[in-house]
Amino acid sequence: MFWNKRLSKSTDDAFELPYRFRRVRKSAAMRDMVRETHLRPEHLVLPIFVGEGIDEPVEIESLPGVYRTPEKQLGGVVRNAWDEGVRSVLLFGVPSKKDAEGSDTWDEKGLMARMVRAAKEAVPEMVVITDNCFCSYTEHGHCGVVVGDHVDNDLTLQNLQKQAVIAAEAGADMVAPSAMMDGQVAAMREALDMTGFTDVGILSYASKFASNLYGPFRAAADCGLKGDRKSYQIDPANRRQALLEALADEEEAADMLMVKPGIMYLDVLSELRQQTQLPLAVYQVSGEYAMIKAAAEKGILDEDAVMMESLISFRRAGADLIITYFAEKACALLNEGKE
Ligand code: PBG
Ligand code: ZN
Repeated sequence: MFWNKRLSKSTDDAFELPYRFRRVRKSAAMRDMVRETHLRPEHLVLPIFVGEGIDEPVEIESLPGVYRTPEKQLGGVVRNAWDEGVRSVLLFGVPSKKDAEGSDTWDEKGLMARMVRAAKEAVPEMVVITDNCFCSYTEHGHCGVVVGDHVDNDLTLQNLQKQAVIAAEAGADMVAPSAMMDGQVAAMREALDMTGFTDVGILSYASKFASNLYGPFRAAADCGLKGDRKSYQIDPANRRQALLEALADEEEAADMLMVKPGIMYLDVLSELRQQTQLPLAVYQVSGEYAMIKAAAEKGILDEDAVMMESLISFRRAGADLIITYFAEKACALLNEGKE
């Protein structure tokens, strides 16, 4: 690009280089001036697991530093997160009773509705998002209605519609369908609009891969899945299909799109950034968090440094929002001025 001839020397001890990139790296002030990407607390979304029927927080073994929160402490957890600078939470219920379809999720007295009410009551300004799925509420652990040996798409859509309305009635700002049923965004949009919740948004888990990185989450959410989700989540080998699916969700009027997991799917995130004008979220999933934690615990990696590098890489690749179990920790560092 720059050279097809030999370097000439301008003085005795310096070469005549047309570019010296190091000029803009020579001081912290200079590096700050040319930094292209930034991370701020409002870019981070904190996932919270709420355990039904527990009195004390229970640490999740596979996710050190992440807890199942008792319902009566959820308000306090949301308040603390807000005080750290977190502006949005994603709520996951860990119910004590399950059934064949996950009917608790569309019960107005059910765990999902109660979590949303408690979170909004504690901090009305907090952007409260619900994960809309069934897998932790069903005995079989699948993300929908099982008929014979498959998960039925359209029966599951009907349940997602009921669930969306329950979450909206309880005060959710956004619903986030993660079941990977076709048409789930359109179905939920229709149900919300027909019940007057035209202002409740949809964050679609649009490009959600059938990843092996969800292992620790399934323990956290007490998901009893036997088998896999390959008949509804995307094959990790498929970039084009992931983009098609995301663009279909945009047509169905999703307000935000998500790529999940994060670190192994930055190509999809980056490409989707080129193809949509919608806000984009990425989910740094449980396995990604657990790997950083485990390496740090062994003294192999510097946890804070790798955490921040992973988060800025999502921003660089095109994410507006990052859903991460590190949200509070990252906010604490950002508040100390350590971007
Ligand atoms: C529910 C759901 C999952 C995750 C978020 N929502 C698990 C799955 O699809 O099996 C994974 C989150 C994580 O691993 O941190 N469908
Ligand atoms: Zn699910």
